[in-house]
Amino acid sequence: MPPVYQRRERLKSMGIETWVPRISVPHGPEARAGEGETENICAHPLILDWDDLEQEVLGCTRCALHETRTQAVFGVGNRTAQWLFIGEAPGEQEDLQGEPFVGRAGQLLNEMIKAIGLSREEVYIANVLKCRPPKNRDPLPQEAAACESHLLSQLALIKPSIIVAVGRIAAQNLLKTGTPIGKLRGVVHDYQSIPLVVTYHPAYLLRSQTEKRRAWEDLKLARRTLNGRH
Ligand code: URA
Repeated sequence: MPPVYQRRERLKSMGIETWVPRISVPHGPEARAGEGETENICAHPLILDWDDLEQEVLGCTRCALHETRTQAVFGVGNRTAQWLFIGEAPGEQEDLQGEPFVGRAGQLLNEMIKAIGLSREEVYIANVLKCRPPKNRDPLPQEAAACESHLLSQLALIKPSIIVAVGRIAAQNLLKTGTPIGKLRGVVHDYQSIPLVVTYHPAYLLRSQTEKRRAWEDLKLARRTLNGRH
């Protein structure tokens, strides 16, 4: 049985339902719009040395975003973290400062991390895209595909025990689905054989304070999954 399904069986025996995508190509309306332009990730082998990977990302020209970025935003935190938080893409402040989640949304993400008893330094924080899309537009499928091996390399190096997909765009890109975030939450997914929980983006929570309670439920689900409880 493939590891993905072994893990699903294990989690199922703990009463945690998981959802495993059966296909691993982008789909949904946005992906269809970019069909034919999506880069084959097999063209980019994983880089399993932190310095080499960082140099590769900082000098990356695989997609047009390198023309408009101030700098690529590699990722930050504990390189042996159990928790990996993955957002969508750098925004204005992140592009300027070279670090993910440093704006107002970043401060709230720090609070969310604190709520589970950890500090920003103890977890690892990365994004699906390493470069800022102009005017913070959503990532294009071909940009996400071009950047995917960078994230997969980080994943292979960190070997986290739990992934939190921060926001709809991150979740949909990671899980390669167009399913609404409301349906993706509350379930343990599988990403590269690692359990993944979806939560709301802190920028959304800043606008919609009443959803904070749900985000807390998501983090508790992630913590229970990590601890093998439910
Ligand atoms: N939003 C994200 O998804 N990532 C960042 O780094 C900043 C804001």
